[in-house]
Amino acid sequence: MNSVKNPPLQNVSVVSFESRRAHEMESFLCEAGAKVSLAPILREVPLMISDEVLYFGRQLLEGKIDIVILFTGIGTKILIEQLSQSFPLEAIKQAFRKASLVSRGPKPILALKDFGIEGAFMVPEPCTSNEIIEFLELGEAVILSAEKVIAVQASGEPASDLERKLSAKGCIVLPLSVYKWDLPEDLGPAKRALQGLLKGEFQAALFTNSNQVKNLFKLACQENKEKELREKLQAIQLGSIGVLTTETLEAQGLKNIWQSSHSKIGDFAKEFCLYWQKGKKTTFSKRIFSLTESEKKSIREKVSESLFMKACRREAVPHTPIWLMRQAGRYMQEYRHLRDKMSFLELCKNSDLAAEVTLFAADKINADAAIIFSDILLIVESMGLPLRYGAGEGPEIPDKVDSETSIDQLREIQPEDMSPTLEAISIVRRSLPDSKALLGFCGAPFTLASYILEGGSSKLFLKTKKLMYSQPRAWNKLMGKLSRGLADFLNAQIDAGADAVQIFDSWVGCLSSEEYREFVFPHTQALIQSLQPGIPVIHFGTGNPTLLHDMRKAGGDVIGIDFRIELGEGWKQAGFDRAVQGNLDPAVLCTDIQTIEKKAAAILDQAAGIPGHIFNLGHGVLPPTPVEHVQHLVHFVHQYSAQKKS
Ligand code: CP3
Repeated sequence: MNSVKNPPLQNVSVVSFESRRAHEMESFLCEAGAKVSLAPILREVPLMISDEVLYFGRQLLEGKIDIVILFTGIGTKILIEQLSQSFPLEAIKQAFRKASLVSRGPKPILALKDFGIEGAFMVPEPCTSNEIIEFLELGEAVILSAEKVIAVQASGEPASDLERKLSAKGCIVLPLSVYKWDLPEDLGPAKRALQGLLKGEFQAALFTNSNQVKNLFKLACQENKEKELREKLQAIQLGSIGVLTTETLEAQGLKNIWQSSHSKIGDFAKEFCLYWQKGKKTTFSKRIFSLTESEKKSIREKVSESLFMKACRREAVPHTPIWLMRQAGRYMQEYRHLRDKMSFLELCKNSDLAAEVTLFAADKINADAAIIFSDILLIVESMGLPLRYGAGEGPEIPDKVDSETSIDQLREIQPEDMSPTLEAISIVRRSLPDSKALLGFCGAPFTLASYILEGGSSKLFLKTKKLMYSQPRAWNKLMGKLSRGLADFLNAQIDAGADAVQIFDSWVGCLSSEEYREFVFPHTQALIQSLQPGIPVIHFGTGNPTLLHDMRKAGGDVIGIDFRIELGEGWKQAGFDRAVQGNLDPAVLCTDIQTIEKKAAAILDQAAGIPGHIFNLGHGVLPPTPVEHVQHLVHFVHQYSAQKKS
C-alpha cells in the first residue's frame, strides 16, 4: 500500500482502540499513510477456574457433553488451560474430539488447532444467536434436539440470548465463564485518546469490540464528559468491526458508523482504507442506509411471524398469502400519473419515490408482501453498459456485447451503484406493517445475459444461444460475472432490510433441460449458494415446466411456477420439500370476476391446503388489467383459502 503515490489515508489522524492486535492495526493504517494513535482500552482477565468449568470438565471426560459452542479464540485457549490444571491434557483433547465442536467464526478453530484438536464446525460470521441455532438445526453434522447437553463458552460476557433460546428448545445449557473484560492496567493511552477526541484531534475512531465503546464512555463518565464525547464522536468517522459493536455505538445515539464486512483486523483495516479512499461512500457500507442493526433485528423478528414468511417455511397459515409480480405498474392510475412527470429510470433511482410506489401498491391491493420497485435490468449499468427504456418498445442495451473481449471489458457489479434501490428498501421496511414481508429481487444470470447479448428483449434468443454454444468460455465468464455480482447485490438488499428475495429467470424457458443443466445450472446454483442463510429465496422461471426439476436442484426455498402447468403437477415437479408460488395466468385478470374466481379457486383446490403455497400470477400483471380485478382476486384468495382451512 505504501508504494502507491497517494496512500488512501494520507495524513488522516485515526485512533484505534484495539488491544491485542493493536500493532497489526497500526502497521496496516500506517502503510495507508494514516497518523495512528493506539489506545488499547480493553483487557481480557482470566478468571479462577469455576465450579461450572470443573463440572463441565468431568462431564466432558465422561462423554456426556453433546455440543460445545466456542465464541472466542482467547476463551477457547483459557478454557483448555484451566481444564488442564485439573485433568490430564491428553484426556481433555480426546474428549473434545468426541463432542461436536461449534466455532463462532474462525478464531476458536485456530485456538483448538494449537492444541491439536481439529474437526470443529464453523458458523460463518456474523453469527448471532439465531444463526448459531439455525446452524445447529439445519447444519449437516450436528443435530439439535431437546435434552442435548450444550456447553457455551461465551466472550467476556454471558451469551444470555443464545442460552435462553437453547433452553427454550429443551436443551440443557452449561454456561462457561473463563474470562471477563476489564479496563487495561495502563490507562494512559486510553485517557490520552479520550482527551484527543474531546479536543477534536482525530478524524476517525476505530472500534473492534463493543466493550471498547463501553469502556471509552466509562472513562468519559469518570470525568463527566459523556455528552461532550458523544458530540465529538458524532463529528468524525466511526469504524465498527461488526453488528454488536455497531449496536453499542448506536445505543449511544451515534449514526455516522461505517461497518466492516470482515472481522479480521487486517481485512477490517484494508476495507476501511478503501472506504475512505472512495470518498467514504463507494465501498458498500451498511451505514449509508437508514435502518439500524437493532431496528432491523426487531422488525425481522416480527415479520418472521407474517403469513408470507410462514408459507416460505412451509408452516401452516390461517389463509393463503398472496402478492403479484409487477403489482406496482401501469395498470394503476396513480402510477401512470407519476410516470407522466418522469421517466421510468428516474423513478427507480429516486429512493423516496420508489419506496412510495412500493408501499402504495402493496397497500392498494392488500397484498401480503411488497416487492421493491425497480427493474431487473438496472444492474447492467453497474457493469458499464448503457440502458434505455424507449416509449412502448421495451428496454434497450445499445452497446454490443458479442465476444470474449467485450465480456472481459464489462465491470464487476458493485452493489453500491444500486444505492437508491438499497436505500428504498430501508425506507419501505421502516414503514411497511410487520404483517407484510418485503421482497428484494434480481434477474437470474441467464435472463440478464440474454438481455445483454440481445441488446434488449428477444423472441428467439439467437445471439444468446450462439455465444453459449460456440464460445462456452466467454459464456461462462459472462455468467460468472453476473452470478458473483448478483449475489453481492442480493446480500446488500438483505442487509438493507429485505425479508426474502426473488430471482427472476423470466426467459429461461427457451432452453431445454439439457441446455439448462450445462449452461445455466452451475451459475444459478452458485448465486443461490452465496446468499445469506435464513432468508427465503424464491426461484422463478417461466416457459418450460420440464425445467422445474432442475431449477429445484439449483436452489430456492420457494419455486415460482408459471401458468403453463397445473399447480399440483408443478408442485410435484418442484418437490414437496419446497414451498411454491403461483400460478394464475395474468390474462385471466383481464376477463371478468366470475372467471377470476373460478380459476383462482381451481389453483387453491390444487394446492389442497398443503402448507407452503403463496398465491401469485404465473407472470407479471399486464398493463390493461383493471385494478379492481386485482383487489378482488386478493380478497377472494384470502377468503376462499380461509374457508377451506376452517
Ligand atoms: O414486481 C414489481 O412490482 C416490482 C417491480 C418490477 C418491475 N420489473 C417494474 C417494471 C420487477 C420485479 C420487474 C422485473 C422484470 N423486469 C422482469 C422479470 C419479471 C418478468 O416480468 O418476467 C423483466 C423480464 C423485466 C424487464 C423489463 N422491464 C421489461 C421487458 C420492461 C418493458 C416491458 C414492460 O412490461 O413494461 C420493463 C419495464 C418495467 N419494469 C416497467 C415496470 C413497472 C414498466 C415501466 C414503465 O413504462 O413505467
